Amino acid sequence: MIQAVIFDLDGVLVDTAHYHFLAWQRLAKELGIHFTEQENEQLKGVSRMRSLEIILEMGNLQLSLDEMNKLAEKKNKWFVQYINKIKPDEIFPGVKELIQRIRESKIKVALASSSKNANTVLDLLHIKNIFDALVDGTMITHTKPDPEIFLLAAKKLNVLPSQCLVYEDAEAGVDAALAAGMKCVGVGSPNTLRSAHFVVAATPEFTLEKIKSIV
Ligand code: BG6
Ligand code: MG
Repeated sequence: MIQAVIFDLDGVLVDTAHYHFLAWQRLAKELGIHFTEQENEQLKGVSRMRSLEIILEMGNLQLSLDEMNKLAEKKNKWFVQYINKIKPDEIFPGVKELIQRIRESKIKVALASSSKNANTVLDLLHIKNIFDALVDGTMITHTKPDPEIFLLAAKKLNVLPSQCLVYEDAEAGVDAALAAGMKCVGVGSPNTLRSAHFVVAATPEFTLEKIKSIV
C-alpha cells in the first residue's frame, strides 16, 4: 500500500521544464551548438552543472571550471527571468486538487526537485505549505538518476521507500525512483518514460483511486 507520494516539480506540477529548455537553447546557440527539444530530454531532472556538461559534450567543447561556472550562472539568470512572471494559476490544471485529495486520505506528500530554484517556484505558485516535506537541489550531493533525492524525501516523511510513489517527467527521474525501490508514474511520453510502472500524459490522470489500487 502506498503511504507517501513524492512529486517532482519542473514538468510535473508546472511547465517550468519548458523554461529550462529555452534558457539552455539560448546558451547553446551562443556557443554555436545545435540543441533540440528531443536532445533536451537528457537534461531533464539532472543538475545544472550536469546539464551544461551534456551540452558541451554535444558540441565537443572543453572549457575550464571557471568558464563553466560563468555559463551555468548565465543560463540560470535567464531561467530566473522567465519564471519570475509565473502566476499561481499556472500550476497544471487538477494538480492542486489531486494533492488535496491525497492528503485528505492520510497519504503523505513530498516534493523532490533537483532544482536550486524550487523554493522560488513554489513561492510563486503559492503551494509551499501543501507538502509534508521538501527536498531540493541545495540538499543533495548526487543528481538524478541517483536515488539520493527520493531516499531523503522518504526519510523526511518517515516512510519506507517501498511505500512511496513518485511522479516524474524525466527519464533520469524515473531511473532514480526505480533505483530507490519506489513505484513510479511517468508523466509524458511512453517512449521516453518506458521504464516507469505507469505512464500518463498529464499528472492528474493518475488519480487517487489509481494510487490506492497499487498493491
Ligand atoms: C530539474 C530540471 O528539476 O532541475 C532540470 O528538470 C534542471 O532541467 C534542474 O537543470 C536543476 O535546476 P536549477 O534550477 O537548479 O538550475
Ligand atoms: Mg521534472
